[in-house]
Amino acid sequence: MHYPQSQNAWRIYNMITIKTPATSANLGSGFDCLGIALKLYNSFQVEKYDHNFLENIDEKYNNDNNLFLRAYRLGCETIGKYDPIHVIFDCHIPISRGLGSSASFIIGGLVAASVLHNNILSEAEIYRLACSIEGHPDNIAPCLYGGLCAGMKIDEKHFLSHKLPIHKDWKYTALVPNVEVSTEEARAALPDHYPRAKVATAISNAILTSQALQEGNLSLLSASTHDIIHEPYRKKLIPNFEIVQQIVKEDTDGILLISGSGSTCLCIAKKELSTKARLKVASLPHHWQCLQLDVAYHGTEIER
Ligand code: HSE
Repeated sequence: MHYPQSQNAWRIYNMITIKTPATSANLGSGFDCLGIALKLYNSFQVEKYDHNFLENIDEKYNNDNNLFLRAYRLGCETIGKYDPIHVIFDCHIPISRGLGSSASFIIGGLVAASVLHNNILSEAEIYRLACSIEGHPDNIAPCLYGGLCAGMKIDEKHFLSHKLPIHKDWKYTALVPNVEVSTEEARAALPDHYPRAKVATAISNAILTSQALQEGNLSLLSASTHDIIHEPYRKKLIPNFEIVQQIVKEDTDGILLISGSGSTCLCIAKKELSTKARLKVASLPHHWQCLQLDVAYHGTEIER
């Protein structure tokens, strides 16, 4: 066993690590309700401290408004006991790219409040508090519980979630352009009302998408992921979306969705994207990155 030498290393050795996965929300037709956890993580090492001390984080987030810290404060408020916190951030989920970095910070802060106070918050309480900050459950549920989840908002304070079975053969590739999309702006781009016939199509699409993911049924997935609620209005925020969609289709026969509110796009297929297709995407403007990611079945993990 390795024992750290310096006092500083000894302290880090005694900190608790919280690992939160990336998430891809909506999955085409499951707007604000479906999401899946993927193995790309933010890690937070935490301990109680004599003042709030955030390490290894961009200066612009190193302040009281930091989302992790805001969630931590809400957790402490709910518990009724506040201790300042030292956090060492090790973040790999890109910010403002539709891969659930906000959910990851929110869950991280709430779990930190709980683990530093005798695990006093239940998972259900953490889920409820996290959804109340984020406003919708589709990133929060898979980030906390892992796998494929359906979440439901009952009202501002009450949320449900359910973990859904998922076929093991799917391959997931996140295609990430170097373009930030603010969720607020991407939500503002959507209509407030939809015609009844469109709503009926959207409901059947969402049901069939979750069934297709469970069965491993590619033709059903292709038929049911033609979203009409958000993708038509958000495509224009993602440069070359249709070209990337075409490359993915020709290479894998799979589908390309907008991940959350973008700009990341998620390819779901039965085979991995070939090197040739990756190079084609990478040669487009905006420095697209291709990340082959497995499902994070366990959601948030705590290491002591
Ligand atoms: N369901 C959300 C949206 C995910 O599409 O706006 C982004 O947080």
